[in-house]
Amino acid sequence: MSEYTVAVVGVGAVGEEMLRVLAQRNFPAREIRVFARSARTISLDGRSYEVRATTPEGFEGVDVALFAGTEGEKGAAVTFAAEAVRRGAVVIDNGADFRMEPNVPLVVPEVNPEALDKHEGIISNPNCSTIQMVAALKPLHDAGKLKRVIVSTYQAVSGTGRSAIKELEAQAKAWAQGEPLPAPAAYKYPIAFNLIPQIGGFRPDGYTSEEWKMIAETHKILGDDRIAISATTIRVPVFNSHSESVTVETERPIGRAQALELLRAAPGIVVVDDPAVADAGGPAYPLPIEASGKDETYVGRVREDPFVPNTLHFWVVADNLRKGAATNAVQIAETLIARGLLRK
Ligand SMILES: NC(=O)c1ccc[n+]([C@@H]2O[C@H](COP(=O)([O-])OP(=O)(O)OC[C@H]3O[C@@H](n4cnc5c(N)ncnc54)[C@H](OP(=O)(O)O)[C@@H]3O)[C@@H](O)[C@H]2O)c1
Repeated sequence: MSEYTVAVVGVGAVGEEMLRVLAQRNFPAREIRVFARSARTISLDGRSYEVRATTPEGFEGVDVALFAGTEGEKGAAVTFAAEAVRRGAVVIDNGADFRMEPNVPLVVPEVNPEALDKHEGIISNPNCSTIQMVAALKPLHDAGKLKRVIVSTYQAVSGTGRSAIKELEAQAKAWAQGEPLPAPAAYKYPIAFNLIPQIGGFRPDGYTSEEWKMIAETHKILGDDRIAISATTIRVPVFNSHSESVTVETERPIGRAQALELLRAAPGIVVVDDPAVADAGGPAYPLPIEASGKDETYVGRVREDPFVPNTLHFWVVADNLRKGAATNAVQIAETLIARGLLRK
């Protein structure tokens, strides 16, 4: 099998998980170059990695570059993605900078792998909340054609990055010791023992940028912008794994039994839906603690609406650092290899 020179840019919450996923999935890498803003050595799962300061020349000879740096004007992808592509690398970016550009495929490999065939050097990983939702929507859309999607998210602090994980930890420790909570920095309000119904900035229509990401990205991935989608995104004091309550209305009816069958057959989906064992403490529904560290998207609580026809409700949970970011990016690289789209 061919082996590839891989670059990982950023060693924050997502970048570290990328290094872990590359190792765990035995990605065929002859070399992994690790870049961040500043050079140092990091140690991860007993292995040490030399981190270099990112430079355009660092991408010389790189076949695939996985970007997990900060977004925006001075971020890693905006500064270095074009430089990497110019040197022959395919860039898979985790941030939002290029997701909605028409020539940039936005890909969840289980949902729209064919979008990769038209890539021009940069491929985007969707937002973490979008990835797990579309993984569950896809089989229902194929079977019943989605008309309406209403989603409320319960998003973990790891989605904000390492600083937010530390912030929840510090606030929880202070609370347990009866001390005043340290001042919030990653969020506007304390996150410990609280919920914040705002992720991203507000837009004039009252929705946040995160909510619009879920809408626009779902339209792009499913290739259908007539689906009426509304999202409410909420930050919760959970360390890792995002949860979502999703309601869908379909053109053709799909009952609970058929939905379970479709979801069980869908790639990357694990159904955990057994109300009968809930009281016995069994795995009755997906939990963020259980999903953490896993690569699959977990779906449960599937039920028919008692009042509105053709309408289902369900609960979706996935590890936002893995399926929502690192795993999806590595799966994109694996799919590029499988489709003969990565240079040998
Ligand atoms: N966290 C999630 O669940 C999640 C999910 C999906 C997508 N994403 C996206 O993935 C990206 C990374 O998120 P994160 O949570 O891992 O962030 P993070 O913990 O804040 O880490 C950011 C990393 O990027 C590096 N970096 C920042 N600017 C850079 C630049 N100009 N050049 C090179 N390296 C740079 C930093 O380097 P230093 O360490 O040297 O400062 C750091 O290692 C973001 O675009 C985020 O939106 C995150």
